[in-house]
Amino acid sequence: MELRDKVVVVTGGASGIGGGLCRRFREEGVRGLVIADLNGDSAAALANELDGTGYSLDVRDEAAVAAMVAETEAAFGQIDLFCSNAGILNLDEGDYWATSSPNDVWQRNWEVHVMAHIYAARACLPAMISRGEGYFLHTVSAAGLLTQPYTAAYATTKHAAIGFAESLAITHGDDGVKVSCLCPQAVDTAMLGGTDGGAAGLDGILSPEQVAEAVIEGLREERFLILLISRSSSITSTRRKTTIVGSVACANCVGACAHLHSPDICSRAPRGQTKPLRAGHPQRLLRLLCRVREHHSGGSHSL
Ligand SMILES: NC(=O)c1ccc[n+]([C@@H]2O[C@H](COP(=O)([O-])OP(=O)(O)OC[C@H]3O[C@@H](n4cnc5c(N)ncnc54)[C@H](O)[C@@H]3O)[C@@H](O)[C@H]2O)c1
Repeated sequence: MELRDKVVVVTGGASGIGGGLCRRFREEGVRGLVIADLNGDSAAALANELDGTGYSLDVRDEAAVAAMVAETEAAFGQIDLFCSNAGILNLDEGDYWATSSPNDVWQRNWEVHVMAHIYAARACLPAMISRGEGYFLHTVSAAGLLTQPYTAAYATTKHAAIGFAESLAITHGDDGVKVSCLCPQAVDTAMLGGTDGGAAGLDGILSPEQVAEAVIEGLREERFLILLISRSSSITSTRRKTTIVGSVACANCVGACAHLHSPDICSRAPRGQTKPLRAGHPQRLLRLLCRVREHHSGGSHSL
């Protein structure tokens, strides 16, 4: 997809990765740029700067998402690219048990990372299918392909987001609907909160501008997975243990479940002790998972 003269919506567009996408989309010459965010004031300020339209929106509210889509279509015509980018991150509470976040945190993660993508697709699909084209960019995370220690609700719902994106791509590929999942590791935004990103930062920390550049390239090539690999790798972590496990099942193209668990990427150190973590392994896992997923989504039409 080339973005010139296109109509684009970005949720969570007021800051971080979403803000970087909006700036880069404006440079590409989009015709309509809708910046939707829970923080309506920041969305309006960025929209003012980029000659876009700011929108105060809670992506968990389906009626509000549908109204925003209808207003955008009325103002600019068909939405060409809908970027579901809004996200939240909570560390697991207490002793960092995978079960320790309360149910309302799990529910919020589910609504922001999964249901919001469904609401956007539900609102946009009718017009996209009738026109025979449309594009969804879902900001997921490398945590949706591997995992992210101590953020079970985040990592689990990001996995689910990839599941929905695959369903969307597979079911509606023949309708002309395209889907990309943006899966960066650590990015220097408010979400990272000035930390080293823990496991996500093993391979370095990217800037929102680098992410936006990769998105332009990924959209141009219409890749299902937009995966960023950072070159810097001299990261240490003060986390007491870091385990990265990736697993994927793709009966369609590999004929079996490829379960990836490499013990040598687990680094365990006593609480509070700084221990250098071996970098590079997450990237290898990501590359492998990426190949499987790309194959899966590319082979979808023969299902
Ligand atoms: N920063 C990272 O290291 C990193 C890595 C991988 C993926 N991501 C993903 O990138 C996306 C953007 O995050 P970011 O890093 O730019 O963080 P950020 O905190 O800068 O941006 C998130 C934006 O989403 C908005 N938002 C949150 N809940 C919302 C809701 N209910 N409705 C509408 N807007 C809402 C926030 O107001 C904020 O502007 C998220 O989906 C995140 O999971 C981030």
